[in-house]
Amino acid sequence: MAALEARHLSDLRFPEVSRALRALSSAYVERRHALSRGAALDGRGKRAAFAMFYGPLHFLTVAHVVRALDAHPPAGGPIVDIGCGTGVCSAAWALEQPVPPRLVGFDTNDYAVQEARWTWTQLGLTGSARKGDATALPPPTQRRALVAGWVLNELSEETRAWTWASLQRSAEAGDAVLIVEPISRTVSPWWDDVASATIRLGGRADEWRFPADLPPLVAKLDHAAGLSHRELTARTCYIPPK
Ligand SMILES: C[S@@+](CC[C@H](N)C(=O)[O-])C[C@H]1O[C@@H](n2cnc3c(N)ncnc32)[C@H](O)[C@@H]1O
Repeated sequence: MAALEARHLSDLRFPEVSRALRALSSAYVERRHALSRGAALDGRGKRAAFAMFYGPLHFLTVAHVVRALDAHPPAGGPIVDIGCGTGVCSAAWALEQPVPPRLVGFDTNDYAVQEARWTWTQLGLTGSARKGDATALPPPTQRRALVAGWVLNELSEETRAWTWASLQRSAEAGDAVLIVEPISRTVSPWWDDVASATIRLGGRADEWRFPADLPPLVAKLDHAAGLSHRELTARTCYIPPK
């Protein structure tokens, strides 16, 4: 958090970031169609809000989820982070392991790719992030874990169907798959179909509510932007590795 603060608040004032956070969160709620074209990350304030607010929020949520699921990547394999953003989902999963695995991230947004590399370095993790589309899942060279955090709902119907089909093929081949989405069903009307297929593949679908153990800077942003997170919430589909 200290490194994030130094990185983003050196040339931006707190009110600029909290204003940008308000805009970003209303973009997530109201203008989802614009998000996959990168509109969500189109200014310094929004990027700072994404990194300093949503990054830690998603990091903490995934840490709680993988602990509750006792989710482990296949031994020796990497965690592949689809739509990695700032790289927090794979980082949280990796840091819950006795020996953190290598990370591989891809995202269509250049800024996100750079930021994921920075996050992993800050957290002492090893990984490589590159620009890439969710439909171009890297071919498996070994069994691996795949995480798609808060990304499937941003994809077009066609891209999501394609991505989900390749995640199912990976799970059938033995990879671990973790999908994390907001608890609100309005952004993921397709959820029940994905959840049923997950269960058929030997996995489970859950809805989570954890107490919001927010770091002070995140809590201050939360309050200033009028978001009031009392809980960290998410729904997940998880298929363990074979
Ligand atoms: C809400 S953010 C979530 C980022 C990160 N997974 C997290 O949980 O913080 C969604 C991310 O998906 C990326 N994205 C959108 N469409 C994509 C696509 N077709 N392929 C890969 N990434 C995509 C966006 O650039 C953005 O970084």
